[in-house]
Amino acid sequence: MRYVVTGAAGFIGSHLSETLIARGHDVAGVDCFTDYYDPALKEANAEGLDVARLDLAQEDLDLSGVDGVFHLAGQPGVRSFGDVFEEYVRRNLLASRRVFEAAAAAGVRVVFASSSSIYGDAESYPTSEDAEPRPISPYGITKLGCEQLAYAYAHGFGLDVVVLRYFTFYGPRQRPDMAVARIVDALARGASFELYGDGLQSRSFTYVADGVEATIAAMQRGATGGVYNVGGGEEATMRDVIATLERVSGRTLDLVERPAAAGDVRRTSADATRVERDLGWLATTSLDDGLQAQWDWASARVAAP
Ligand code: UGA
Repeated sequence: MRYVVTGAAGFIGSHLSETLIARGHDVAGVDCFTDYYDPALKEANAEGLDVARLDLAQEDLDLSGVDGVFHLAGQPGVRSFGDVFEEYVRRNLLASRRVFEAAAAAGVRVVFASSSSIYGDAESYPTSEDAEPRPISPYGITKLGCEQLAYAYAHGFGLDVVVLRYFTFYGPRQRPDMAVARIVDALARGASFELYGDGLQSRSFTYVADGVEATIAAMQRGATGGVYNVGGGEEATMRDVIATLERVSGRTLDLVERPAAAGDVRRTSADATRVERDLGWLATTSLDDGLQAQWDWASARVAAP
């Protein structure tokens, strides 16, 4: 198959692209290498991949001969209040609208990477896909808007779309603004880590290789118009994650306590019933093993000359 992966130089997009290639598929990556975090990290992620520099909000995506689009490009990060909202609107809503329109016109399936953040402080836990979406971050609002745009293009123009709600992916190459990446970096360098709030907030942490399997399964056998939680492995608090990483690294974290951040939800917990039933997918990597893998990767990079 020939697939387009948007956001191919990002954390999840680069893992997805590598796995697809390893399974014999052709991957045309696109990415606009924004400076939300150091673009050099994205260049490193993209090494060995075919990634064209493209701004989806204003440039056209060529879908001739393409069997499917994994649309992962976007402006991430839940702590998204303030004037940065314009970036969220542009890179999520405006860019996705163009991707959905192009895919509908070409008759190509899109797997869209949405987010657990659309649930906000969810109405129930574990949270099923039928829970009322009520995001509490501008980021989550734009992701929910993208989902709604996808449905509008499905309704109006026959877009074949599968929506995935990713739950806090972690693992090697995790975005450097995310908590686990910052903790392993602080441990490896002997720097401090700023903990937002009391540390008892919890997440359905999802190991990136597991998430990639769900993403490929969605392209291959997801229901048209389907929406699936991708999470539901181990829920853990930030205090649990810190304790595990201290044990794995054999070091003590220099913790600086900060106020809770606006936009952060208190808890995420994925109900994985539907994704297991339809895609035959369940998270299989334990949090211990996944955190060990991320520590091994990050500490080796810090130690490298
Ligand atoms: C993550 C991603 O950043 C989003 O892009 C994604 O959409 C979302 O997962 C998702 O599940 O959909 P989040 O769960 O907030 O969002 O992940 P982290 O940024 O790793 O934060 C986890 C927790 O650590 C939060 O409670 C946050 O407040 C805390 N944190 C983060 C800190 O205490 N200090 C930091 O420096 C960073």
